[in-house]
Parts: sequence; structure tokens; C-alpha cells
Amino acid sequence: MSVNKEVKRITTHILQEMKNRGEKIAMLTAYDFSMATIVDNAGMDIILVGDSASNVMAGHETTLPITLDQMIYHASSVVRAAKRALVVVDLPFGSYQGNSKEALASAIRIMKEAGAHGVKLEGGVEIAESVTRILAAGIPVMGHLGLTPQSIYKFGTYTVRAKEEAEAQKLKEDALKLQELGCFGIVLEKIPAKLAKEVSESLTIPTIGIGAGQHCDGQVLVIHDMLGINKGFKPRFLRQYANLFDVMNDAISNYVGDVKAKGFPNEKEEY
Ligand code: KIV
Repeated sequence: MSVNKEVKRITTHILQEMKNRGEKIAMLTAYDFSMATIVDNAGMDIILVGDSASNVMAGHETTLPITLDQMIYHASSVVRAAKRALVVVDLPFGSYQGNSKEALASAIRIMKEAGAHGVKLEGGVEIAESVTRILAAGIPVMGHLGLTPQSIYKFGTYTVRAKEEAEAQKLKEDALKLQELGCFGIVLEKIPAKLAKEVSESLTIPTIGIGAGQHCDGQVLVIHDMLGINKGFKPRFLRQYANLFDVMNDAISNYVGDVKAKGFPNEKEEY
């Protein structure tokens, strides 16, 4: 499919227009300048500087340890690369749950120090005051419902959320609330496709799914997962578009072999 790379910068208004005319939204994570340059050049609509950086960049088991300073470092590198995509940055665990003033201060740091275009927060009605305050400062906010990895120790597992009626009902109410407050979109993570369809159809703002089926208004994946850099991670929802672990491993092993065999550098590669 062709992508209009001429668009100067994707905005939240453009995303809304895309939903209105039924055009799907493509979103992918990136955490550094080089990757973000490739992602942006490929025609991505939204680049998410996700707190999944805690897992794939820093090697932590969960997203909880990453700090606001570290997110700002990743985000500023991505912003320098993104010419077309809207850059949305996760507020990390501990930077917004305390109170709405703290949430606003964290969001302002991300906008000011990283030059981001919006922030993403996990949660529903319980973060309404923070969302309102951030939006009042003119900062676009994206919601995140369903499996919210910052609450992993509450859930106890990364399995599909909202399979039971009570949790599904709460998710629907949360989605409506986030829309009412003024969020420009909502990530729906690992929920049944039927529920994601119902939510996507009931909202006027775009939904972006990850493990939430084909009826969301857009899709998001973690770049290391879809490029096959994470060898062991293969959940059902993940489509692996490349096997970069093996490609990179082969290239690097060849380099090691050449150095050991005194085959690199040769005369043509020296001064
Ligand atoms: O941190 C992240 O990468 C995310 C996506 C999984 C949506 O929040």
C-alpha cells in the first residue's frame, strides 16, 4: 500500500480525519535516532516512545523501573529523527500516579525537554484529574486501557484482559470517559477482538490496538518484537515481519570470524 510521505507532520487532527474516513492508523515504537529515522521514513503515522524501552532497551523484566529522565533521553533522540510521524511518549510508572500536579509536571518535562508531540498514560477514571490537567495545558493525551503493563503486579499475569463482563463494562466506561475528557486516541492492549470492535465503534476518537484484533482504528507493535530482534517473544497477536536476530547474529559472527582469521581489514580497507 502506498503511503503519502509528503504530509508535513501528522497531527492529532489528521488522525481524527483518518478515523472519520476509515483509513487505518499505523503506530510503532522506537527509542533511538537510527531506528526512528527508518520508522519515520517508512511512512509511520505515530511513533510511540513506549516505556517498553525498559524491557527491550534496558533489559528489565517489567516497564516499572524506567525513569522520567531515561524516557526523556529516548524521546529526544526519536524526536530529532521524526520528520513526519507524531511522536507520543509514555509517562513512566511513578511519574503521574501521585497526583495531577505531578502528572502535569512530568508531561511538561517530556514536551519541553524532549520536544514530544503528546503523552500516553495508562488507566481510566482513576487518572481523570491528571488527564484533565495535562489537556488544560495544551498537551495532547492518549489513553491506554486493557492490559496496562505498569499494573502487572496487580494483574499478576500478562494474559488477555476484560474477558469477564464486569471488567469489560469498566473498560467501556473508561474509554468513554477518556474521550469525554478530550484524549485524541486510546491504545487497547490485549482484550477480546469483539470488545475492541464494540469500543472502536462506540467512540468517535481513534482506537489503536495491540492484541485487540482487526477492528481497531489502528495498530501498534513494539519494534523489537515485529523485527524479530527479541528471539523468545512470540505471543499470538504478534506478526514477525523479519528475523533480525539471525540476520544480525550472522553478520556479527562473520565479523568475529574475519577478525580472528586476520581477514579484516585487508589492504583495500586500510590507509
Ligand atoms: O510501551 C509500549 O511499547 C506500549 C505499547 C505496547 C502500546 O505501551
